[in-house]
Amino acid sequence: EKGGYDHFMIKEIHEQPNTIRDCLRGRLDVEAGRITLGGIREYAANLNNTDRIVFVACGTSWHAGLVAEYVFEELCRVPVEVEYASEFRYRNPVIREGDVIFAVSQSGETADTLVAIEGAKEKGAIIFGICNVVGSSIPRASHEGVYTHAGPEIGVASTKAFTAQLTVLTLIALKSAHERGTIDDKRFRELLAELYRIPEKVKQALDMDEHIRKIAGKYKDAHSFLFLGRRYGFPVALEGALKLKEISYIHAEGYPAAEMKHGHIALVDENLPSVFIATRDSSYEKIVSNIQEIKARGGKVIAVVSEGDDVIPQMADDVIEVPETDELLMPMVSVIPLQLLSYHIGTMKGYNVDQPRNLAKSVTVE
Ligand code: M6R
Repeated sequence: EKGGYDHFMIKEIHEQPNTIRDCLRGRLDVEAGRITLGGIREYAANLNNTDRIVFVACGTSWHAGLVAEYVFEELCRVPVEVEYASEFRYRNPVIREGDVIFAVSQSGETADTLVAIEGAKEKGAIIFGICNVVGSSIPRASHEGVYTHAGPEIGVASTKAFTAQLTVLTLIALKSAHERGTIDDKRFRELLAELYRIPEKVKQALDMDEHIRKIAGKYKDAHSFLFLGRRYGFPVALEGALKLKEISYIHAEGYPAAEMKHGHIALVDENLPSVFIATRDSSYEKIVSNIQEIKARGGKVIAVVSEGDDVIPQMADDVIEVPETDELLMPMVSVIPLQLLSYHIGTMKGYNVDQPRNLAKSVTVE
């Protein structure tokens, strides 16, 4: 059942080219320049006309919401908020008739997310469920929604469900932007074509597995890690830190790279490795100077870079190359090395990576 792999986690990590492809199948038609989403029909006009979108989720699904915030703002030019379901549910949030809420959840059973949308629905919000488990509670409590079709995710650490969530949310944002007229046809078609190439690029990123295992061996005894990124790399940094904590019980913090000057750079010394998401995008120059700042303080740097980068490899202690893609789609590719890094460190330490201590696959109690 593990398909020849030692653990479900590594099997699921390697499944991602296929799960992303499954997620796109029947929805993305590059030739025709069309996206079809059977799950958003009746309420499509609500989505296309709303002036406020809120993502409600927990854990890794919340990180998918953070990526989606940037994608929807960029493409649809609509204000977006991303909320921890547990906070959203217990404060007194302002919800107006016609607000659109996306509930993102692999299991579709997370108690805080479920109760949060039930409350918002009563106040007139339109709810879209973005879930993996068909027929689960959140899709049933939503007006409409889109399934991620990643197949059963057994490993407690979410991996393939995350990239499937990003795929679905990107499809929705692209379609809505096209219908709103906030994206021109050329850019729309360019992104469709690039989205179609993502499974192949994820596969290329997975080819770094052995190289990443060696890096894991070098750093596995560190007591703490920083994960740093900017723009689309920031939620990826948060996700990399969460994976490492869950799987290898090593303390890790994710931050927007520019925030380091505001506090945590005080921690940096030769014992604190920093993982940078430093692929070539609009904030590349800035991230290069952030890497220099860490190196100047004696910190070790592991950098996820774009193929062919010849600047960062001269500064960083270790680099992991991933193929280039549009920055909007990069999280689906740049998260792969971080999943692998946490997997290898966890297994080297002899931990049960499929069932980490203290964690449950779905958190159905508060
Ligand atoms: O099933 P959900 O997506 O609603 O679960 C949310 C979180 O509990 C989940 O992402 C958790 O953080 C994972 N262990 C992350 O790997």
